[in-house]
Amino acid sequence: MWNVLVAFKVFFLYMILTKRASELTNYLRELKKQNPQLSIGFVPTMGALHNGHLSLIYESIRENDRTVCSIFVNPTQFGEKKDLETYPKPIEQDMQMLMDAGTDILFLPEVDEVYPPDYEHQTFDLNGLDLKIEGEMRPGHFQGVCNVLYRFFEIVEPTRAYFGQKDFQQTVVAKMLVDLMDTDLEIRVMPIAREDHGLAMSSRNRRLPDHARKSANFIYHGLLKIKETAPEIGLQAAIQNMKEDILKRDNAELEYLLAVNANTINEVQNLSDADEIVILTVVKYYDVRLLDNMYI
Ligand code: PAF
Repeated sequence: MWNVLVAFKVFFLYMILTKRASELTNYLRELKKQNPQLSIGFVPTMGALHNGHLSLIYESIRENDRTVCSIFVNPTQFGEKKDLETYPKPIEQDMQMLMDAGTDILFLPEVDEVYPPDYEHQTFDLNGLDLKIEGEMRPGHFQGVCNVLYRFFEIVEPTRAYFGQKDFQQTVVAKMLVDLMDTDLEIRVMPIAREDHGLAMSSRNRRLPDHARKSANFIYHGLLKIKETAPEIGLQAAIQNMKEDILKRDNAELEYLLAVNANTINEVQNLSDADEIVILTVVKYYDVRLLDNMYI
């Protein structure tokens, strides 16, 4: 049934669902033929949606004539098989959330549809950005992200694509990919959505024990403290304080915590080293990798 475009109707809201890439491309091209000015907002996701994703959808709806969301757990960006296999897939709940939010089209492809048998995986020249920090912890991850985005951008031909700031390095990689593809597509980056206590929203937060979703707010508060104290005590001393705080915590293991130039992702030592500085961190808490970052 999902092999054709299907319209759902719930409380007067319609959402078109398709699993076929060519169907989606043809449908959107037909719309553009009727209205050459038509703008298309695209929100790529791996499902297990939360308010962070919805904020991207809302912004896309505000800025574009049509909003397309994809749900696809992209195998090429997972290093660990277990992470891929256990990635949450609450598809019915996701569809309801997207419909309620007013999404126009949901693209829900199978692996073969995104990567047909004749698709040759590409290696993009990301100037080493794919090999450092998050890329160093997850070899091949950003090349996998680029391959799936390349395919999606080909299929959807969007005017704007929406990403959350939480995956900061991914947003920079997506901008580099667009440069390499030489398209007019605009990458829009939306602020991090946080749970009540401050933990950055992520589909992986579901794997935390309930109490840890609250206590994990030490990451957010640590970043805020760096922002507050760095002008006084110096950037590296402020970072060191947060590292020591993490070391003292049970069930917490620091993967990285560093300050980078927001445009190049090159590490910086001092506040005066770049106009825009972001602190990037990953803390493994109760065995769940929690990413967070903050402009300072
Ligand atoms: O951030 C994500 O959920 C994924 O990396 C993305 C952008 C959907 C590509 O698979």
